[in-house]
Amino acid sequence: MSVHIGAKQGEIAETILLPGDPLRAKHIAETYMEDIVCYNEVRGMLGFTGTYRGKRVSVQGTGMGIPTTSIYVNELIADYGVKNLIRVGTCGAMQEHVHVRDVVLAQASCTDSSMNRHEFSGYDYSPIASFPLLQAAYERGMAKGLKLHVGNVFSSDMFYRGDKSVVKKLMDYGVLGVEMETTALYTLAAKYGAKALTILTVSDHLLTGEETTAADRQTTFHDMMEVALETAIS
Ligand code: HPA
Repeated sequence: MSVHIGAKQGEIAETILLPGDPLRAKHIAETYMEDIVCYNEVRGMLGFTGTYRGKRVSVQGTGMGIPTTSIYVNELIADYGVKNLIRVGTCGAMQEHVHVRDVVLAQASCTDSSMNRHEFSGYDYSPIASFPLLQAAYERGMAKGLKLHVGNVFSSDMFYRGDKSVVKKLMDYGVLGVEMETTALYTLAAKYGAKALTILTVSDHLLTGEETTAADRQTTFHDMMEVALETAIS
């Protein structure tokens, strides 16, 4: 096992889906995958391996935010040899033309986290998606007729924020949505030579205040999952 994951070597597939919520990981495994085995229960951060259309895929909860996501992504790649990581999550829309229930493919991410400032001695590093995964997800999403957006996201360290001026500035610079994990995922994938992509459904709107209902979230989650799983086995 690694420090935070109780799996034996070989129990985690080379391709993995990463929801924030560990119970989401369980739901994904039980709903979309066959022959599932739970390989991790440490800290309740459930992880499963199974098959999707005959191909081996895992799904692992990461928790919310950059610190916890960094731990799982680091160990999955460095200790278990995971090569393709697809985050499936939600974001808050930051542009008028991005609507709740749409799907966002994170081409890149900016952040208020200091993780890369420390790692790069004060210089800026640009975390970007794997182009092959981005292209595969884009093609599959378009073929399904989803309302897809491709662009920059904001990986924020704060869900509840007092001063909104930075968020406004990021909106002016075309950032599509806010979430809390992608900078960690893309940076660590680059560090270890793995491929990563974040796929997000829009759960709420920072400009209009609109929110999705539980039924909406279920439908858009299913659309996103089909794109993510088809991309995973592409
Ligand atoms: N902020 C941060 N993360 C999020 C949000 C948000 O408004 N919505 C969904 N994930």
